[in-house]
Amino acid sequence: MKALILSGGKGTRLRPITHTAAKQLIPVANKPILFYAIEAMKDAGITDIGIVVGETHAEVRAAVGNGEKWGVNITYIPQEAPLGLAHAVKISEEFMNGEPFVMYLGDNLIRDGVTSLKECFEKSGANAQILLAHVPNPQNFGVAELNEGRVVRLVEKPIDPPSDLALVGVYMFDSSVFEAVNSIQPSVRSELEITDAIQYLIENGFRVESKIVDGWWKDTGKVEDMLEANRLVLDGMAPENFGEVDSESEIHGRVSIGKGSKIIGSNIRGPVIIGENCVIENSFIGPYSSINDRVIIRASEVEHSIILEDSKVLDIGSRMADSLVGKNVKICKTLKKPQAYRIMVGDNSEVSVF
Ligand code: DAU
Repeated sequence: MKALILSGGKGTRLRPITHTAAKQLIPVANKPILFYAIEAMKDAGITDIGIVVGETHAEVRAAVGNGEKWGVNITYIPQEAPLGLAHAVKISEEFMNGEPFVMYLGDNLIRDGVTSLKECFEKSGANAQILLAHVPNPQNFGVAELNEGRVVRLVEKPIDPPSDLALVGVYMFDSSVFEAVNSIQPSVRSELEITDAIQYLIENGFRVESKIVDGWWKDTGKVEDMLEANRLVLDGMAPENFGEVDSESEIHGRVSIGKGSKIIGSNIRGPVIIGENCVIENSFIGPYSSINDRVIIRASEVEHSIILEDSKVLDIGSRMADSLVGKNVKICKTLKKPQAYRIMVGDNSEVSVF
């Protein structure tokens, strides 16, 4: 069995972060989301992995390389534009070479990985297996309609959803999916939809099985989803300390501190992960925060936030919460007159003040 991980697309809902970075490389608990997908494949014993890449291909290649660090073989499959999930399948036909495969959306996180799903698919002898989850907002997903436990219809982001069962971004196919993706037409949003390809399989006598997801699953398309994914991963994290914590500091709960990081006169209340070579001074870091490498936080409070590499939060006095801060960002208090917010933010940014 092979794997196809989709890491193209545009990431418009995570701008401005995705103006300069692939959305699949945004870290959750200090690890790029895409790496969780690769690890899930490796854990399921799948070592031949195709990664579909788009305009952020250089960055994805630089981060992932040839897969050596996980003991897997990565083949990059360039997609000229984000023409749809079924288009990504279409261009991978040669790579699959007739083998069954798991397709995994590179911005999805699934707690239990794919091992048991793979085993179930292999035993079933089905042509396709989809994974479903009950969600409160089905109109934002592909949605399945079931009849006596069998999938009868799939619709992509319906205004009037036929059920609350969303399609999770983990699919299993045998080579019959290529007949489907080569037969369907682009949708109204000009994409070749994987939902239409699976609907084709259902209508043309192929066997499509469905399973309801057991553990948690998260599509990290928006900031709130990233923060939730971060919470879910930090909840299962093991604490460890490779840094230096001075005698004035207090560490409570599950806290992981990386090499070379210094905690000075601060209070860290887990679950929190702090990367390497950070300085946290006279500050409070509250639950569900992921602080990436070389971040400096001084005389400030941070809670339920993700802060990426090389950023600084200095002397803000009050608390920053529910935030996603990009790389090399500086947030600080100034004593310069007039006392005012001085802001330089990129396009499509969001700043909330009180
Ligand atoms: O997350 C589950 C949902 O994923 C499903 O319920 C939907 O049926 C499915 O269409 C998909 O919806 P999204 O709107 O979340 O898809 P998105 O455009 O975000 O793309 C998912 C991943 O695939 C993302 O990592 C980008 C990548 N991608 C996307 C397209 C359209 C590609 O690599 N190539 C593409 O052409």
